[in-house]
Amino acid sequence: MKKFFGAFLAALMMITFTACGNSAAEKNSTPEAKPADKILVAYFSCTGNTKAAALEVAEILKADTFEIVPAQAYTSDDLNYHAENCRANIEQKNSAARPEIKNKIENIEQYKAIVVAFPIWWGAEPRIIDTFVESYNLDGKIIVPVCTSGGSDIQTSAANLKQLCKGANVLDGKRLGILSKDELKAWVASLKL
Ligand SMILES: Cc1cc2nc3c(=O)[nH]c(=O)nc-3n(C[C@H](O)[C@H](O)[C@H](O)COP(=O)(O)O)c2cc1C
Repeated sequence: MKKFFGAFLAALMMITFTACGNSAAEKNSTPEAKPADKILVAYFSCTGNTKAAALEVAEILKADTFEIVPAQAYTSDDLNYHAENCRANIEQKNSAARPEIKNKIENIEQYKAIVVAFPIWWGAEPRIIDTFVESYNLDGKIIVPVCTSGGSDIQTSAANLKQLCKGANVLDGKRLGILSKDELKAWVASLKL
């Protein structure tokens, strides 16, 4: 009888320990990371042209949007490129300039692709765009540069962003604001995001 009780107790303890062990593992196990399957359109715009173009792209892609807000807003004096030493000109002349950004994207992991929209300043992306791409781990993501401008194209900016986002797949991008709605839709579809 004593022997039987001993064996019974041992079996009971084993069941209890196993059960406890399982529930602890369940509690400690991290939930599986969600696949990065969403698209974000992030834009910087001082006078509204890029914002309008970016929101059109976001609508076509049914993407989330994020406005890149400078910590220090750009005044019209800051943007007056006729004045040699206006803030925008000083920043563009200095490739190391990284104007601060006020806000941050939450859960960037959920995005597989980010459309980065900006105006062309002195032939290239504003330095705040460099701040933006350097603020996140973009490894493995598709980056689509798009711009608005008075005439300059996207090539220099796309080349700069390819240098800055080495682990990402930076596409050649597009100058927007000059395409018809149908042309824009066709171009967006061609990205196969
Ligand atoms: C400082 C500064 C520099 C600019 N440099 C260029 C340029 O090199 N080439 C060009 O085509 N347009 C240039 N532009 C015009 C802007 O790219 C254009 O107006 C753009 O659509 C503005 O976008 P936003 O309204 O979203 O700020 C410049 C504008 C500013 C303020």
